[in-house]
Amino acid sequence: MKSYKIALIPGDGIGTEVLACSWSVLTEASERFGFRLESQTFPWSCDYYLQNGRMMPDDGIEQLRAFDSIYLGAVGWPARVPDSVSLHGLLLPIRKAFDLYVNSRPHRLLDGVEGPLRAGSFDILCIRENTEGEYSGAGGRVHMATPNEVAVETSVFTRRGVERIIRYGFEMARTRKRRLASVTKSNAQKYSMVFWDEVTDTLAAEYPDVEVTRYHVDAIAARFVTHPQTLDVVVASNLFGDILTDIGAAIQGGLGFAASANLNPEGGVPSMFEPVHGSAPDIAGRGIANPLATIWAGALMLEHLGEASAAQAIVKSIEDVTRQRLVRTPDLGGQATTEEVAQAVIAALAALA
Ligand code: NAI
Ligand code: MG
Repeated sequence: MKSYKIALIPGDGIGTEVLACSWSVLTEASERFGFRLESQTFPWSCDYYLQNGRMMPDDGIEQLRAFDSIYLGAVGWPARVPDSVSLHGLLLPIRKAFDLYVNSRPHRLLDGVEGPLRAGSFDILCIRENTEGEYSGAGGRVHMATPNEVAVETSVFTRRGVERIIRYGFEMARTRKRRLASVTKSNAQKYSMVFWDEVTDTLAAEYPDVEVTRYHVDAIAARFVTHPQTLDVVVASNLFGDILTDIGAAIQGGLGFAASANLNPEGGVPSMFEPVHGSAPDIAGRGIANPLATIWAGALMLEHLGEASAAQAIVKSIEDVTRQRLVRTPDLGGQATTEEVAQAVIAALAALA
């Protein structure tokens, strides 16, 4: 029997609540589909920071390296630890150490969920570059706090970095409707984004079966709202992808549904799977967080591990639950608890086979 070692990092706030019950959904799926999931839980969080002065131990990355995947709840508790500390002490080091250069986010409006748009269907896979671009961290400030102060933040686009993310976009398009939207702003940014367009054109020759369209980021942002059915896979830089995926999450019904995979497609290191939302201090501790985003992220993890049937079954079960409109957390207008929603997904899974 195949067996996978998963590092669980529940983190803070609702991260701990949604991860625990999502894990039981994955365990149920593993039993039904004939593979084993082994887990080890790492308490790295803001609580851990307050006790130990760091978000994870010095050898934290080395501890994680032995796992097949990392499954994360959410990290951050701004009232006690600044976000700059919690983010830079845990999430960013993991993404960087394992070169998780793909941030993949499926945005689909599930049956039974009312999004803000009138358009009936919404199904876009966003592929965001996760390691360089506008968030490279290159820059500086001089003449601080004087009238001559200057702040410079440089975008860094490398051929290796741009090629590999666009190539991944083409590969994903091949698994879907064979349509790739490449996002730039090459009318205004004449170096980096013109370069991005050139790389897209070069790769397009290798994927004659995929229809590529270039969009400027402002135009595609509008298109998400007005003509989402014309989009299939969208590949974008770090900043543009960040913004577009928030639009995608909003249209699919909000943070309760938005799942995210941080991938190194070459493998050999653990990829990381998480909901898009944070620790939600405003509702933490009440057991009412929507677990569906985290369960969906778990499905992305199983898919990445090669358990596609189990992954599809979980997504189908999530949708069976939303379609019935019975068991819903308060963010969807219901009164169910986190645990009740997860149990409903488990029941739907059981009813499948
Ligand atoms: P947030 O995503 O935690 O919450 C935003 C709003 O959405 C809140 O009103 C919250 O109650 C609601 N919400 C979020 N997830 C929900 C769910 N599953 N079910 C029902 N309602 C949900 O964003 P916020 O408040 O800006 O950040 C809180 C903390 O989380 C901060 O420390 C932030 O840095 C951190 N954060 C961590 C992330 C991560 O671990 N990847 C991602 C985003 C934020
Ligand atoms: Mg964002």
